[in-house]
Amino acid sequence: MESELGKKIIYQIYPRSFYDSDHDGIGDLRGIIAKVPYLKKLHIDMIWFNPFFVSPQKDNGYDIADYYQIDSRFGTMADFEELVAELHKNKIDVMLDMVFNHCSTRHPWFQKALAGDKYYQRFFYLRSAKPDGSLPTNWQSKFGGPAWSRFGHTDKYYLHLYAPAQADLDWHNPAVRQEAAKIVNFWRKKGVKGFRFDVFNVTGKAEQLVDSTDRNTEKQLYTDTPVVHRYLRELNHNSFGQDPTIVTVGEMSSTTVENSIKYTQPKNHELSMIFTFHHLKVDYRQGNKWDSVPFDFLQLKKLLFEWQTALDQAQGWNALFWNNHDQPRALNRFGDPIHYREKSAEVLATAIQLLRGTPFIYQGEEIGMTDPNYQQITDYEDIETINAYHELLAAGRTPTQAFNAVKQKSRDNSRTPMQWTDDKFAGFSTVKPWLLPTNQATINVADELKNGEIFTYYQRLFKLRKTEKLVYQGHIKPLWQDHPQVMGYLRYLDQQQLLVITNFYGQATTINLPAAFAAAKSQILLSNYQRQQLPTNKLTLAPFEALVLKLNSSSFF
Ligand code: GLC
Ligand code: MG
Repeated sequence: MESELGKKIIYQIYPRSFYDSDHDGIGDLRGIIAKVPYLKKLHIDMIWFNPFFVSPQKDNGYDIADYYQIDSRFGTMADFEELVAELHKNKIDVMLDMVFNHCSTRHPWFQKALAGDKYYQRFFYLRSAKPDGSLPTNWQSKFGGPAWSRFGHTDKYYLHLYAPAQADLDWHNPAVRQEAAKIVNFWRKKGVKGFRFDVFNVTGKAEQLVDSTDRNTEKQLYTDTPVVHRYLRELNHNSFGQDPTIVTVGEMSSTTVENSIKYTQPKNHELSMIFTFHHLKVDYRQGNKWDSVPFDFLQLKKLLFEWQTALDQAQGWNALFWNNHDQPRALNRFGDPIHYREKSAEVLATAIQLLRGTPFIYQGEEIGMTDPNYQQITDYEDIETINAYHELLAAGRTPTQAFNAVKQKSRDNSRTPMQWTDDKFAGFSTVKPWLLPTNQATINVADELKNGEIFTYYQRLFKLRKTEKLVYQGHIKPLWQDHPQVMGYLRYLDQQQLLVITNFYGQATTINLPAAFAAAKSQILLSNYQRQQLPTNKLTLAPFEALVLKLNSSSFF
């Protein structure tokens, strides 16, 4: 199974922004069907779709009101079935996004609870105010403001770790856990082969919810607690675990190495892999997302390798990624989109994709899409962005400071429409899209396929991953850990070795090659500079150069 997982490439589609087939400014399922030939060119194995279930869209579909139906903005169940069939014809499987920590307050469960139904009231965290009249706990919502809102006209409050429109489900209640398994099984019957579990490690709240004493450690009260493992094993047993070919990934913010191992060790029967986020916080000042600093390269490497080596030793498994719909584009954060857009996109791809685990790429990454250049707060749509902007103002930042802070970190940075052409609306739609593209004149699929090099580089990387055992199955050993510009590592297995070298900066730099690799003893498997020959022992890397070498096995003996 490990080698099977290691051969898979998972592409993420944000349906709202992929392709609009019915001219309403919002991407849809038929739009995705129309682009299957494009997807096929990439040789991906599975597509993770962000939620397109019935939802009031207060958090772009992460507030689900019906887990069994397609939201009419995106299409119909018939469209979904056709999409699955079309993808299967092209050997691409489907991964759906299961949002089980919370549901929409429009969901019948919550509506029935509001109407007084005791059975459904037990689906949620309903609590009374404290004797002094203050909220049940002092917790903050992740999107700003308190984590409690008034439960209808009663004297109770309901918990929402996210927006008030997203009520937390009480996983202590076995009925909630059974509903979750039922939903997974429903979609399995439709041919779905993958599941992503949204913010799953905040399901493990204590029975007694207590005040936090410190804002910075507050989330430890409900994040990554031991009971999450039990919930996962039960869900696995009652649903996806019944089919060994199913691929699962849990979104595990603020997890630990130890828990990452537990979640993914095959013998534990929890998940195939997890997303962790520590490596994407290296441009936060003291952990504050809205306070950016240049990224800490040594820290980035340290975190990635800490997880890589620990999971390798314990048969855990990583999901490998830079981008998703919650992150600004990695190219803007860790690359140089102005001077070296193509080369730095390739360096990022090489560095992450050849690690041990299963790579995920996010729509547009394969053509080197970058953050939009918005000028005012009204250009943004995301609830977290808008709330953060107002909180920053309230905390005393000037409008320009607040705007610049959200401009760098807004989740909308990655949610802009896929840029198919250089048209006014980027070939995404014939009408004004829900979010505007700003740089399609220079970055778009049509140009990339004609003149670009990033897309073909990804194709070569994917091919390497699928054909080279060292990549899909090898162990990992970090190299040059203290080097200020180079991220490099060995993948090794059965006396064979593969060496990945990437220069993360726009200046050339020189490294010493490991002895065995120097002097014609190795072959070049991949190079983003068309390098043909290797110098002996000292290697000077060009700006944003990526190089993959394999030791000729004969040189070992
Ligand atoms: C996850 C999703 C994010 C969403 C949140 C609440 O982090 O990726 O988009 O807002 O969960 O469901
Ligand atoms: Mg549409």
